[in-house]
Amino acid sequence: MDTLSFQPPIIAHRGASAYAPENTLIAFVKAAQLGIRWIECDVMQAACGEAIIFHDETLDRTTNGKGYVERYPYTYLQSLDAGSWFDPIFSGERIPTLRALLEFLQNTAMHANIEIKALPGQEDALVKIVAKEIMTHFGERANNILFSSFSVAALYALRRYLPHCQIGLLLHEWEADWEKTYDSLHCVSLHINHEIIFSDIAHQLKKDNKIVLCYTVNDPARATELYSFGVDAVFSDAPDRILMI
Ligand code: G3P
Ligand code: MG
Repeated sequence: MDTLSFQPPIIAHRGASAYAPENTLIAFVKAAQLGIRWIECDVMQAACGEAIIFHDETLDRTTNGKGYVERYPYTYLQSLDAGSWFDPIFSGERIPTLRALLEFLQNTAMHANIEIKALPGQEDALVKIVAKEIMTHFGERANNILFSSFSVAALYALRRYLPHCQIGLLLHEWEADWEKTYDSLHCVSLHINHEIIFSDIAHQLKKDNKIVLCYTVNDPARATELYSFGVDAVFSDAPDRILMI
């Protein structure tokens, strides 16, 4: 498998989410228009089993719906307005399916970090659905896809259903046994909360040949500092701000 490359070294977090409603196709298009090659998005499951691109457990913040996402089939979810909360000019935006995202990647040659957001106990079911979609569109050795999750159970399910896929370990805090998990899953990257990374740790991670990605960085000065530590790329809501440095 080819080594992943992040050029420019920026991943549009939930798309270019400072400029368009997060996790919608228009946010991914906006990232491409800004000259970004990688987008990050969150994947969860609708009640009917459809894999959808969405961040929160509830609909309230980013749609005109209410309640838990998992309770609704996609036939209902696709009727919701996922854009107006951000700005009325985005009122036609819908919650995308994973399938629509994969078609977007095919049409644009963009790359994606797909973050699995499975509810506890549903990791296996969600990953099984995701794996089926990936196999249909790209085959499991897809170099344009990097998976990640805070859920170690979801990552093990990925290893089971897509044995050759690229996996990144996502860490909000340093966990005692993170390196053991990283090795046993054959991860290729570490996706770290930028607030817990310092020069010495970053240099050690690079010495160990790990790809280091930091979230969420909207301050160009902090991005410059992280790059000087050897960090490979940063997740940003405003990728153009980081692109300017
Ligand atoms: O994958 C990096 C970042 O997206 C993790 O946090 O809550 O924005 O999905 P969150
Ligand atoms: Mg995410």
